Amino acid sequence: MDIISMRSISKDEITSLIDLAEKIEFRSIDINISDRLVALLFFEPSTRTAFSFDTAIKRLGGKTLLMQEAKSSSVQKGESFADTIKTVSQYVDAIVIRSAVEGAARYTSEIVDIPVINAGDGANQHPTQALLDLYTIKKRQGTVENRKVAIVGDLRYGRAVYSLVYGLAKFNVELYLISPEHLQIRPYVRDELDAMGITYHQGDDISSVLEEVDIMYVTRIQRERFAGQYEYEKVKDSYQITRDMIEACNLKENFTLMHPLPRVNEITTDVDSLPCAHYFQQAKNGVYMRQAVMATLLGAV
Ligand code: CP
Repeated sequence: MDIISMRSISKDEITSLIDLAEKIEFRSIDINISDRLVALLFFEPSTRTAFSFDTAIKRLGGKTLLMQEAKSSSVQKGESFADTIKTVSQYVDAIVIRSAVEGAARYTSEIVDIPVINAGDGANQHPTQALLDLYTIKKRQGTVENRKVAIVGDLRYGRAVYSLVYGLAKFNVELYLISPEHLQIRPYVRDELDAMGITYHQGDDISSVLEEVDIMYVTRIQRERFAGQYEYEKVKDSYQITRDMIEACNLKENFTLMHPLPRVNEITTDVDSLPCAHYFQQAKNGVYMRQAVMATLLGAV
């Protein structure tokens, strides 16, 4: 089994992973992968995903090989991506891979015989981010079913957004897609939401939806996905959630503010101490969910 895209993970599989993450967090299950070694290949920068996979595997007793840039490998001498991956797969029991190239994780899964986990491929997918997001929603709201969720920011290039939308869609949610016009979600996703019967609203105004939703999921405008600085400058400060804005609203009782992080300035730091701010808890939940993912893929449960 591989984890490449939220499109191909069923609702039952998501629910099982959430249940397992909960058992791991509350220590009602013992899992040991002390005889397993996992390669963490990060060809793009990462703080949370790389370190939380490393933490998750080590907390289960396993070991990791961490490659954080291609220039520390023989890619620098002209070795192909395929040869590098096939070679690494001779040493380890699973591969976690992040790349700026869309499809890199799927390609990897096609050329090796061990489980592959997509830790983010370009603007395409980041499935374990969505799984930890769904775990966070379940913990905070009691259920993912029928939630009203606003997703704000870069909906065009945000891989966390695409994975989350496909994950949420399996739970009959209502979506509010808030972005500048140039960063709207890609049309084929809207078509798929229509086909799945998911109600969604599109707009560019946060304040009109703050009091409507159970969850607001804010994302960064990603400088690295723009063709040039000028295009980025035009939209970079489109949204900012402030403490004053939150405190002026009559929010739902369990309103939850999430962000996959890193943030730039789209949520001011004075929001962090509000009870609704869940983004650092979300990062912590990533360890439990990634323990659940590794244990499942390595056949340890
Ligand atoms: N959320 C997330 O993917 O963060 P990193 O880029 O730091 O891994």
